[in-house]
Amino acid sequence: MSRVVRIACFAVAGILAVGLSGAFAQLEQKPAKEYIDSMERPGRVKSLKVDEVLAKLELKPGDIVADVGSGAGGFSIPMAKAIAPNGTLYAVDIDQEMLDYVTAKAKKEGLTNVVTILGEYDDPKLPVKNVNVAFFHRVLHMIEHRQTYVNATAKYMAPDGKIVIIDKNREDSENWMWLQQSDVDTWMAALSFYPAQKFGVFDDRYFVVYQRPYGDSILLKKKEGGGGGGE
Ligand SMILES: C[S@@+](CC[C@H](N)C(=O)[O-])C[C@H]1O[C@@H](n2cnc3c(N)ncnc32)[C@H](O)[C@@H]1O
Repeated sequence: MSRVVRIACFAVAGILAVGLSGAFAQLEQKPAKEYIDSMERPGRVKSLKVDEVLAKLELKPGDIVADVGSGAGGFSIPMAKAIAPNGTLYAVDIDQEMLDYVTAKAKKEGLTNVVTILGEYDDPKLPVKNVNVAFFHRVLHMIEHRQTYVNATAKYMAPDGKIVIIDKNREDSENWMWLQQSDVDTWMAALSFYPAQKFGVFDDRYFVVYQRPYGDSILLKKKEGGGGGGE
């Protein structure tokens, strides 16, 4: 191979490497159709314990909720029902096909309060700054710049808004899909969000509600029976 051809090959390989690393900076995921099918498996849907989770969140009509990384809408649709008629559910994802799936599901259910948002990898790009609940179920571990994403989310929250993280600690995960709760606690504390409630709904994942000590926030409410705000 001539020197010129060798240099040209290195250059092309270099350009490809830079291009690909940019394209896959975010954790790679399955194509939407396959991903949706796997999320809609009856076993998985059951494992979401949607009714129990919603009961803990105490959503009410009029709330503004962001379901971040909404996927197939397993939580988005029931949440939208819980905050109807005047509350808005923002379903945020980075995959437009999944958002289209959620829109179709909402239409089928006759819901008019679901708004889909094509977020950016590091920012949910919400159109409002008064979000009462930003909900992440098994999403944050997938994001490359997790602390950046949490910081971006905080900008959209109402002063007493809750950021809810449900994810797995390393010891509860059989593969790479884990995120230590202690890391989330640290990032949240840097934003003055503290674990206001912890719920033991799941055996294999933590469920923590983070909130700022503001106004009537759970953090400032008198704890009943001397215990914590959750389980
Ligand atoms: C494991 S699924 C969870 C879906 C849903 N929360 C559930 O539990 O059924 C993760 C979802 O997060 C989305 N996602 C991944 N990275 C994201 C990012 N940076 N911003 C928003 N959504 C993201 C994926 O497209 C996928 O729909």
